[in-house]
Amino acid sequence: MKDWPYDVFPTGWYQIGYSAELAPGEVRPVKYFDQDLVLFRTEQGEVALLDAYCAHLGAHLGYGGKVKGDCIECPFHGWLWTAQGALSEIPYAPGETRRVGLDRWETREVDGLIIAWYDGFGRAPWWEWPGIREFKDGAGCYPIYPQGADHIGVRKIIPQSPVENTPDYYHFMWVHGSGQPGKPLLWEEEGHYLRTRIGFVFGHGKQSTWLTPDGPVAGEIETEAWGLGLSNARFVLDGFITSQLTAATPVDREHSQLFDTITCTREPGSDDPEPSGTAARMLEFQKGQIRRDFAIWENQRYVEHPPFAGGEEEHYARFRRWSRQFYVNAPESEQV
Ligand code: FES
Ligand SMILES: [Fe+2]
Repeated sequence: MKDWPYDVFPTGWYQIGYSAELAPGEVRPVKYFDQDLVLFRTEQGEVALLDAYCAHLGAHLGYGGKVKGDCIECPFHGWLWTAQGALSEIPYAPGETRRVGLDRWETREVDGLIIAWYDGFGRAPWWEWPGIREFKDGAGCYPIYPQGADHIGVRKIIPQSPVENTPDYYHFMWVHGSGQPGKPLLWEEEGHYLRTRIGFVFGHGKQSTWLTPDGPVAGEIETEAWGLGLSNARFVLDGFITSQLTAATPVDREHSQLFDTITCTREPGSDDPEPSGTAARMLEFQKGQIRRDFAIWENQRYVEHPPFAGGEEEHYARFRRWSRQFYVNAPESEQV
């Protein structure tokens, strides 16, 4: 995004992949937060994210590094590093140790996603990510993997943009083709966590749509954000729920890697892993809708003091205030 005023990446949890796409023994070079990193899974199944460059003579472990047990072996001289970044062994100098290590990044696997903690000051996680209830509900919802896991790729988008949709009740009319703006019903902040509910009439002004064959239906969008890296929108319509998680992970100052993960209520009576009927159509529809947002975000300029209208400022101001905590030098509780 142009004219972005901050020079730090926001603190928080960020998605760096899907569990199903990193098998034991797999090694991958990755770049996040303007740093070269190596991502791997040990033979025991632990995920590790370390600084890419070997502390011996600087080889990139992501290119040719091999998993050996619970370590990664450098392709240059074979030094072995543990998943925690500690030096385990120098194969040609047994018994010798050096006081060196690799920076290690906290990771978790939650609901089929691999996430990593970023804090510009190296502090430990302030919170844990609880995941998404529908992603855990294999009986009631379709599995997110593989059909619900959408790799959007690296885009010129900053993590704040997706979450900033939360207070934007008017954009639904222009970007998503809804006949009316969203109606704010709830705004709840709890530290790093923001939850809202937005009232909506699905199929507004139309006699019949594929989603609302019997005419317009009042529904809700429940949004949840945990920091700026992970935010979920839950579309609730007559007991039919679609849950869509947007994850934006900074690659450099202007670009993020985007993931869109989605599931919905199963078709009545179906235990098929593949969505069908209205469920399949809803998932495709929402994947298309989020792409409309991406097209705006990647070409947008950041406006620090927008000329708000129609009551926009109330929730926008709250959102911007809430979002600032992730850019500051210390958690709010530690600020003086
Ligand atoms: S550079 Fe890695 S072992 Fe020498
Ligand atoms: Fe949107």
